[in-house]
Amino acid sequence: MGTVDAAWTLDYDGFDQATEGVRESLCALGNGYVVTRGAAPEASAGGAHYPGTYVAGVFNRLRTRRHGHVDETESLVNLPNWLELRWRIASGPWIVPGTDAVVDLRQTLDLRAGVLHRRYRAVDSAGRATTVVSRCLVSMAAPHVAALDTTFIPENWSGLLHVRSGIDARTANTEVTADLPLGSRHLRAERAGGNGTAGVWVRMRTSQSQVIVGMAARTRVLTAGRIVEVPRRVTTAAARPHEDLAIRVEAGHPLTVEKIAAVYTSRDRAISEPATAARDEVARAGTFAALQAAHVDAWRDLWRRCHVELCADDGAESAARLNLHTFHVLQTASEHMRDLDAGVGARGLHGEGYRGHVFWDELFLHRVLVLHLPEVSRALLRYRHRRLDPARRAARAAGHRGAMFPWQSGSDGREETPTELYNPRSGQWMPDRSVHQRHVGLAIAYSAWQYYQATGDLAFMTTHGAELVCEIARFFADLAQENPATGRYEITGVMGPDEFHDGYPGTDTPGLANNAYTNVMTAWLLRRALELVALLRHHDGAAVLDRLGLTDGELARWADITTRMYVPFHGDGIISQFDGYADLTEFDLAGYRARYGNVGRLDLILAAEGDTPNRYQVSKQADVLMLFFLLSAEELREVLSGLGYAWPEEALPRTVNHYFSRVSHGSTLSRVVHAWVRTRTDRDCSWDCFTEALAADVLDTQGGTTREGIHLGAMAGTIDLAERCYLGLETRDDALWLNPVLPKEINRLRTTLTFRGHRLQVTATHTELTVIAAATDAAPVTVHAAGRELRLGDTGTEATVPTGPKSGHPATANSIRRGLIDGSHPQSARTEF
Ligand code: BGC
Repeated sequence: MGTVDAAWTLDYDGFDQATEGVRESLCALGNGYVVTRGAAPEASAGGAHYPGTYVAGVFNRLRTRRHGHVDETESLVNLPNWLELRWRIASGPWIVPGTDAVVDLRQTLDLRAGVLHRRYRAVDSAGRATTVVSRCLVSMAAPHVAALDTTFIPENWSGLLHVRSGIDARTANTEVTADLPLGSRHLRAERAGGNGTAGVWVRMRTSQSQVIVGMAARTRVLTAGRIVEVPRRVTTAAARPHEDLAIRVEAGHPLTVEKIAAVYTSRDRAISEPATAARDEVARAGTFAALQAAHVDAWRDLWRRCHVELCADDGAESAARLNLHTFHVLQTASEHMRDLDAGVGARGLHGEGYRGHVFWDELFLHRVLVLHLPEVSRALLRYRHRRLDPARRAARAAGHRGAMFPWQSGSDGREETPTELYNPRSGQWMPDRSVHQRHVGLAIAYSAWQYYQATGDLAFMTTHGAELVCEIARFFADLAQENPATGRYEITGVMGPDEFHDGYPGTDTPGLANNAYTNVMTAWLLRRALELVALLRHHDGAAVLDRLGLTDGELARWADITTRMYVPFHGDGIISQFDGYADLTEFDLAGYRARYGNVGRLDLILAAEGDTPNRYQVSKQADVLMLFFLLSAEELREVLSGLGYAWPEEALPRTVNHYFSRVSHGSTLSRVVHAWVRTRTDRDCSWDCFTEALAADVLDTQGGTTREGIHLGAMAGTIDLAERCYLGLETRDDALWLNPVLPKEINRLRTTLTFRGHRLQVTATHTELTVIAAATDAAPVTVHAAGRELRLGDTGTEATVPTGPKSGHPATANSIRRGLIDGSHPQSARTEF
């Protein structure tokens, strides 16, 4: 298992066949445009190894005939493997990690610099020992470029080193066992070529989407930093262009093989043809050292904007895991996405889990991005906005107005959710009804609103955001039907986030009535949509309102729903997950845990037993509790009281306890949400959930899913927990709110964020909160810091406010060193960071 033993590295010792796939996902390198798994360059796919390279947004559809029908599936395409670099002594066997020849393997991912280091010794049957040291990067500065630098040190032998460097274009999508019966070959080789100085290149085309992929790789040999010419044979077979280098080496004399690769696709802008662009790029590229210098600079800048610094009692462990999560979030959603038309897959660009599809998980990501890289958040919202028309068509086909976004989305915004799910416990395929999770639309609208709250970017709202928010609001308003018997609006036939409940026991009709999460978030969304319409009327938004064709009658109906939407309750004020939830049978979760150990996928366990979780009060993940995660207690109470429900304060912990004791945590998102809702009621438990969420991928706690890609939502969720939950950070009512509550294990938390153009550094300890704002041209904003109102102007400011039991006490002259308090004007205090 991997251990993160310092805050900035992920280290592995030795080779472990069973967990190599997990390492490959966690050591993947990327830049938002392309990600390459951290596979051994010496290996091709098979056994423990699965090299994979994925470019954001490159999907392809395949049709497979099975079970008497045709399955059509769309997948993120595994592109040719540029990493390939094999070696052997003369004509001996190829050396591959995982075989007996390789010893003392050590692999270190440097998170700060974005470089993967490997080192091992290889000893062949004749006792010839070679030390191999390599560095690999996928450039954060030049998004199309990747590089591998490998130094060979023959320890006790001299002779011929044979290195094969190429592009393996025989790749297919074969990582996910359950998908193996489906077609897997997405790429067709068109042309390949190469020569001794320019290296090799290949042009491929996806079979259905017709995306052209161009890849090129240049390989040089250096001794003591100087290029040396060596005999090489170039093979230009289209499926595997490569160069064989014959290098004379001497014992004790290191020699470096430097490989620089580039990838372009026909989806890229400002190019003529992808293979030409890739060849030109490698021809222009500097040395590995020069590429690394620019790459490290780009990472330094990213960390400056995005680092959430955690100082906890557990040494560097949680800090390092949080850094690892931030690292992978930034490799998936970086500034290089800004010009792309791509969403973010639930498993990053790190593997083939969920076929690279985009789910509601982006909700967890936006909450982080809007505070650090709002331009990336905007790019992801544009991906959704460009798919408004298919969402409108889907709504119409379902008999509704507005926009119904798909549960799983890929290239063109159509619904990509499979209809069947493979159950490895029973070896059977079972129906997958997750497509009924309409709440994905609520997540998109919520994210657009978060983006607006954090940035105040009215121009975006006018051009794109308002259309997204209002069309989604329109869909949910249309789903809501008035029940004449109760005088309340109801939504039926949907699933909430908890995938264990997709219908009522004993019926074949999918969906549930009045999922509380969906109903409450609909009421919340309609409030925001009405607010937005009022805002646009004030700010030159007539054109978008005209385009949307919103009538007074429709707006009045939205307002009516915000006062009469139905929310189910049971017991003493506990919010029910859906109508009839309280009538379900209690489940013996402890008994099943004792029997099966990991009960995360209880749905699969029960199905194999001929049962279904639909019968029980047990959930896969947070559903009702998502409300407390997304909305502050004040906001939630406001929505509920608007609906005419007097919800007593004590009902909140009762609701949390009810669901907390009935969850299997079958989704990695679950622990994030439970850590959140426990913060104010049981801090120890919150810390436990937080550390478990931090361990999800590094320890592969789901037992086998991390090798198919990271869990992006949970990774982003842990950053969000540290930042929004423990710092008590909210963006609402056009202001930033900070009310830190640190678990006792965290001594200090620091983040640097951007709020409406103001760059703020926020530091919290158990006793005080410090806000430092850099000078800016942005319009003044209000920050509510632990009960104190700070008005941030253009000059930069610094203020320290007491927190903890004394919070809310008037700040003293000493505690506010410089700053704008309640509108008073400070002396100029320019702060740069
Ligand atoms: C979860 C969903 C999530 C999906 C992709 C599922 O296991 O239940 O909420 O969207 O994984 O991460």
